[in-house]
Amino acid sequence: MANQLRWDGRVVVVTGAGNGLGRAHALFFGSRGAKVVVNDLGGSAFGAGASSSAADKVVEEIRAAGGQAVANYDSVEFGDKIIETALKAFGRFASLQFFNNAGILRDKSFARMTEEDWLIIQKVHVYGTYKVTKAAWEVFEKQKFGRIINTASGAGVYGNFGQVNYSTAKLAVHGLTETLAQEGAKNNIFANTIAPLAGSRLTATVWDEGMLKLMKPEYITPIVAYLAHESSTSNGRLFELGGGWAAEIRWNKTLGHIWNTGPTFTPEAVAAAWDKVEDFKDSIYPRTNRDGINALQIIEASQKAPENPQGPAVRFDGKVVV
Ligand code: NAI
Repeated sequence: MANQLRWDGRVVVVTGAGNGLGRAHALFFGSRGAKVVVNDLGGSAFGAGASSSAADKVVEEIRAAGGQAVANYDSVEFGDKIIETALKAFGRFASLQFFNNAGILRDKSFARMTEEDWLIIQKVHVYGTYKVTKAAWEVFEKQKFGRIINTASGAGVYGNFGQVNYSTAKLAVHGLTETLAQEGAKNNIFANTIAPLAGSRLTATVWDEGMLKLMKPEYITPIVAYLAHESSTSNGRLFELGGGWAAEIRWNKTLGHIWNTGPTFTPEAVAAAWDKVEDFKDSIYPRTNRDGINALQIIEASQKAPENPQGPAVRFDGKVVV
């Protein structure tokens, strides 16, 4: 194929690359000239155990196809060791970029969730993503180049019954991306988040055989590869993708309502104007917390606002408020 986007001379680290999406990404980058670090702890989909075989198999596949790869078996909680593997194998000043992809599930309703179920999910998804990124950041700043793809989930964006630990962690991953994007931009370090959908051992418990086969992890890879290429200019964005489809998700803020903050600023006045707070007509799409109305404008408008009309009484008689 002519005009291939390539990664010759670049080091690409893919965490959780022994299975599913990470494996598909790693094989692809190996075939496009990258030196690939295949990280995988080799445990179960629920975070039990460890083994070197998952990472080793993918390394063998990349090498058998003529590519370059090394394995790393550390948990992403020890992200510094993963980046150390990259630098040792491929050179201290190698051009580095990576995919925070490793993940597990501990699905339970909030009522049944244990402390351990909560903590392990935060540790792998949030702390793990932070640790790998933190270890690579200095290299990125020195080389004035970095491409980070963080893996979130629709569960994080929209919530999902039975996944309170996971949805918390996955939205946190996007929060991390949004700030990294702002801090990294001046050094050509771009970070984006994907919320993928693909057949893998994580979806095997909820999808039927047909869906698992049709929604291949390989259908995610070309999209994240484009985002990870030096030619891509997307930064701080969130994309939902799967099955050959990609779409961007962004924040949407209503124009809201500003009350007079004098004595008529009561819950009843809030009730009377609440429909304006939730009215998305003429809404905006902020990219930073400086977009849209600022604190000074709010104060000025509030001081000029007429006395607030009052809605129905809001009372708490007989209720216990903690
Ligand atoms: P998978 O289970 O096939 O692959 C995940 C890999 O991560 C496994 O090989 C596992 O050993 C490895 N891993 C787990 N914990 C690790 C740790 N602490 N350190 C290093 N490696 C570790 O799952 P899949 O579907 O490929 O998931 C990849 C990512 O995509 C995950 O972050 C997942 O939460 C996310 N995701 C996947 C969706 C899907 O439809 N498959 C949906 C939404 C998000």
